[in-house]
Amino acid sequence: MHESRVPTVISTTPFDDQKPGTSGLRKSVPAFRQPRYLENFVQSVFDSLPDARGRTLVVGGDGRFFNAEAIQIILRMAAANGVARVLVGRDGLLSTPAVSHLIRKTGAYGGFVLSASHNPGGPDGDFGIKYNIANGGPAPESLTDAVFAASKRIARYLTLETPDLDLSTLGPRTLGEMAVEVVDPVADYAALMETLFDFAAISALLKRPDFRMRFDAMHAITGPYAKAILEDRLGAPKGTVVNATPLPDFGGHHPDPNLVHAAELVEATRGPKGLDFGAASDGDGDRNMILGRDCFVTPSDSLALIAAHAELVPGYAGRLSGVARSMPTSRAADRVAAKLGVGAYETPTGWKFFGNLLDAGKVVFCGEESFGTGSDHVREKDGLWAVLYWLNILAKTGKSVAELLAAHWAEYGRDYYSRHDYEGLDTAQANALMADLRAAKLAGRRFGHRAVTLHDDFAYTDPVNGERTAGQGVRIGFDDGARIVFRLSGTGTSGATLRIYLEHYEADPARQHAETQAVLADLIATAKALSGIEDRTGRAAPDVVT
Ligand code: G1P
Ligand code: ZN
Repeated sequence: MHESRVPTVISTTPFDDQKPGTSGLRKSVPAFRQPRYLENFVQSVFDSLPDARGRTLVVGGDGRFFNAEAIQIILRMAAANGVARVLVGRDGLLSTPAVSHLIRKTGAYGGFVLSASHNPGGPDGDFGIKYNIANGGPAPESLTDAVFAASKRIARYLTLETPDLDLSTLGPRTLGEMAVEVVDPVADYAALMETLFDFAAISALLKRPDFRMRFDAMHAITGPYAKAILEDRLGAPKGTVVNATPLPDFGGHHPDPNLVHAAELVEATRGPKGLDFGAASDGDGDRNMILGRDCFVTPSDSLALIAAHAELVPGYAGRLSGVARSMPTSRAADRVAAKLGVGAYETPTGWKFFGNLLDAGKVVFCGEESFGTGSDHVREKDGLWAVLYWLNILAKTGKSVAELLAAHWAEYGRDYYSRHDYEGLDTAQANALMADLRAAKLAGRRFGHRAVTLHDDFAYTDPVNGERTAGQGVRIGFDDGARIVFRLSGTGTSGATLRIYLEHYEADPARQHAETQAVLADLIATAKALSGIEDRTGRAAPDVVT
């Protein structure tokens, strides 16, 4: 092929389904492989960002199927759209938090993250693309709305006619007039972690013969990061990191760190010989699951404990301004914030809503019930960060995960928490169910021993820029502190997924060690009755319980 520096203009017609969801544009791989599909979306981003010309972007992905081809397409289009320089991870790999960090560290204009997070990969799996802005975080709704609008009127895209660039070795390249720098995906991120945590204390813990841990990378992007940090830098025994090689199809599994998809790890923490600490991360490295021997830390509790122990962690001691959680996340973190006298914020689902709060210094920690925890060190949630944070707490307190949880609940009360997902529902049926829940007159009504004290459709006004986001899920609060939330997923790629979030507050330490689903049974029954899920859809039970 003759190498060209002059952009080629290719005519195209719009696709009508390129509206970014909770986390960028996420579709099946076959959808992304339709001719011009990815190109249209990427051009719509550039058309919405005229001043990207002459600037630096970061590009990387979780290595899933189609990652390599997509990166080449994006690089050519970036060059054709006048981008001056692109930093790309070796082999096109970068975890989502590593992209965020690289954007911030290099002062880049923004970046593309290629991933469908925890969704399965492979030729029939999912793919995704997300644009992040200069603060390192996901684009705000104003920008994603503009991209969607551009995608509906697109008539041409710009590219270069150039061969694929070799991304397998580090160093500079050129593509047309654009500079491309292939960077080590791990080095900068690992260096950042070292500035936040007490590596000496963690290292001593990991080298203790009586401390046994496992990190399950689920054949996804965090394998190389976890090996470099936990094994090479901190001295954990070789083999601490399992499933460490990223595979394009994640070995055929869901790279989703939860009780269902990381069952083998959960099993390894059970019984008297169980591991002291187990952790896992997802496809693109932003989610985490934390386990102790015979115990699971709900992500909601994890956020609360992280906030409560900030003084033990070098990067956070003495500077906790506030904590934010997504609306369906339990209110455990709010109680910690109240006790510490710092701010507490409730945002819509999706990490993008934390960006302004973090930028404004209103919060330091953020979390979502969906296995997402993070801080102001980047503008994405960060799986390995959460694991290191927990190791830091364990090392400095000398307590086990179970002891830490019990002490926390005794002090603050426990939020029994679970999420029930009904997947692949008919979209019209799911929308009708939500509409009826919104319209129902529930205030004051009794369900068993509980009376409804709150019933609304959650809306959020960003305290920093005043942007309003409505329709974020139906909240039903009860007089004993229990809560049920209903919302539809914004990341699915087929049909609709109904998420039912259930929580029950228990202040009495004598009643804080029961089985979650049993404690929630009456609330689950109320949720089923309120939504009429079984009558409407024929589904008697959820597909996934986390
Ligand atoms: C899900 C989670 C949400 C998270 C998002 C991206 O979105 O519920 O908390 O931010 O994935 O990881 P949903 O499918 O519920 O819209
Ligand atoms: Zn993810």
